[in-house]
Amino acid sequence: MRVAVTGAAGQLGSEVVKSFSSAHEVRAFGREQLDVTDYDQVMQELGAWQCDAIINCAAFTDVDRCETEVERAYATNALAVRHLAEAAESSGAQLCHVSTDYVFDGNADSYREWDPPAPLSVYGASKLAGELEVQEVSTNWLIVRTAWIYGHVGRNFVKTMLMLAAEQTQVEVVDDQRGTPSYARDIASAICGLVRRRRRGIFHVTNSGETTWYEFARAVFEEAGLDPKRVHPTSSETIRRPAPRPRSSVLENFALIRSGTGELRHWREALTEFMSNQEEL
Ligand SMILES: NC(=O)c1ccc[n+]([C@@H]2O[C@H](COP(=O)([O-])OP(=O)(O)OC[C@H]3O[C@@H](n4cnc5c(N)ncnc54)[C@H](OP(=O)(O)O)[C@@H]3O)[C@@H](O)[C@H]2O)c1
Repeated sequence: MRVAVTGAAGQLGSEVVKSFSSAHEVRAFGREQLDVTDYDQVMQELGAWQCDAIINCAAFTDVDRCETEVERAYATNALAVRHLAEAAESSGAQLCHVSTDYVFDGNADSYREWDPPAPLSVYGASKLAGELEVQEVSTNWLIVRTAWIYGHVGRNFVKTMLMLAAEQTQVEVVDDQRGTPSYARDIASAICGLVRRRRRGIFHVTNSGETTWYEFARAVFEEAGLDPKRVHPTSSETIRRPAPRPRSSVLENFALIRSGTGELRHWREALTEFMSNQEEL
């Protein structure tokens, strides 16, 4: 297969590039090589290259900054996806677009692929707008919604916890938001499988199981050989953030499991592997 990956320097994009590189021809575009908000550049780089799939991992992912940088959120997470969908159409490629659990409001305990989205934040609304662009503009598409990603490059919750553990004796973490921590390497491998099998439609793809940020933080401490009692539960009311988060954004991997792929390993097992790859941290 010939595959183009946008946002290739990010947590997920870098793993998607690795997943495909062993057996496929991959062109990896970090932001420096391709700004997805630039229509002309997108069409020039991708519109004419006869590839099988364009995998869009580029996004403005700072959920709190999206609340104030609304134009940038929509330019990157919505309009740029239209550009990529047009490029995919003109090159005959499938567009695989990565989206988020934050398209849901969190009032249900878990969500299937067909549940109606109702985003609470600008980030979630802009990502939902991107999903709509995919479906309206491209004829051959795959949307992968994932959640709570951590990987070896860039910033994430696991690295933040380890940094706080080095600086503070106690760490307070919210215990009233549920979701599924997901290892970027596992998500990338599942994306690779779906694209290679030319699957279409919406798939929820996370590690299995569910937890809260508080329990996740305790697990990080345990894996690092630190005392998990140093982590204290608190509430979203106490630690106010600019963007509201869903109370529960557990994604049921309904389509993935019933399409012969099986479920991804449990989040706790994936975390153990991530933490044991210390040289990559
Ligand atoms: N992180 C999570 O917990 C999470 C959860 C659910 C879904 N997702 C989704 O998963 C996907 C990958 O997320 P991630 O965690 O890998 O995020 P990430 O590490 O922030 O990677 C996103 C990449 O996109 C790049 N980018 C931003 N604006 C761009 C532009 N205009 N043109 C080209 N590249 C641009 C970023 O570059 P700069 O760093 O230079 O800005 C970054 O390298 C996104 O679609 C995200 O919405 C993430």
